[in-house]
This record gives sequence, C-alpha cells and structure tokens, in this order.
Amino acid sequence: MHAPYIPAPPDAVRLLAEAETRNSGPWVAHSRHVAAAARAIAAYWPDLDPDAAYALGLLHDIGRRAGVTKMRHAIDGHRYLAGLGYADAARICLTHSFVVRDIRAIAGEWDCTPDELAHAERLLAETTCDGYDRLIQLCDALALPSGYCLMEVRLVDVALRHGVNEYTVQRWEGYLSLLREVEEIIGRSVYSLLPGVVENTFGRA
Ligand SMILES: [Fe+2]
Repeated sequence: MHAPYIPAPPDAVRLLAEAETRNSGPWVAHSRHVAAAARAIAAYWPDLDPDAAYALGLLHDIGRRAGVTKMRHAIDGHRYLAGLGYADAARICLTHSFVVRDIRAIAGEWDCTPDELAHAERLLAETTCDGYDRLIQLCDALALPSGYCLMEVRLVDVALRHGVNEYTVQRWEGYLSLLREVEEIIGRSVYSLLPGVVENTFGRA
C-alpha cells in the first residue's frame, strides 16, 4: 500500500549519500542507525514492511541536505521528498518530531518564516499518523550518531543541545509511553533488538 510513495531501500541509500555530499555531519550516521532500528523493529510489527521502515528511517532527516538548520529541516525534508513523489516519506519528515502533536512542541526552535510555519502547522493538523510515523518517532529517540542507547540518555542529549521548554516533560512522557506501546505491539523488548545499547549508554568498561 505504501510502496509507491516510499523509495526502495537502494534509492533511499542513494538519496542519503547525495545529501551527505551537501551537508555532512553526525545526522547522517544517526539516520543510518534510525533506519537499521526501524527495520529490526518492523520485522516484529504486524502490517509494517521492514524495507519501507528502513527507507523511512534513512530519509527522516533528509531536510538537513539543505544545510545546518534547526527545525526547518522538517519543512525542507517534506518539500524535497514530496517533490520527488514520495508522499509517505515526506510525511515522516514532518511527523517524526511530533510525539506531541503540536507544532510548538519541539526541541529547539523554528528557523523559518511565519508563512512556512503556518504551512507546517496546517500539514501536521491534516496528517493522519500510522505505525510508520510512530516507529520513526521511537527510533529517532533511541539513536545517537554513535549508536543506540537508553532512551532517557538520548532525551537528555537532545535537551543539552537544544535546551528545554514548557513542552519538554510532556514530550518525554510521550516518548516513554511510545516505547511501552511499541513493546506491547512487537511482544518483546525494543532494546533486545538493538546492538550496542550497553556500550553506548554506559561506555566501555
Ligand atoms: Fe532524527
């Protein structure tokens, strides 16, 4: 059902590699980890296709190809992938940051024009999220550029880099609740599917 609107994995790999030539940075390794986690979790998630999940993970931050930006990477990514005809992948560029579905509930700030923000707000309000949106939100909160870690470590990492605001606790609650929801769906620990969690969380002995 999603296939026409999500690139095949080799195409997603190519798009990310091209983006890296425009703006290399830790976001690329992070994206590859998100993709691998999404594929591993999707294998146990009824109705989700692991290849589609992998491609969506690779591309969720593709808006960073436009340069070093803050939240506008969501708008840039949506526009870029929608322009290529990948409507579902474009949707994920926007929804992956909104475990709390409020355009103001972000880490960091919107570095875009008021018109662009109003457009993003309309898009988010009109969007229906499915399992893929939830899966990429989850994986985004489990992957540092260096690999997987305890979710709480990633949440604090984001807070230290982008600061906190009145939505931070609500967002953290949303992510922790999402982790429990997904573990219920897949019938196992998410962490059991992710290599290197102990090393990345606690450091090597
Ligand atoms: Fe991300």
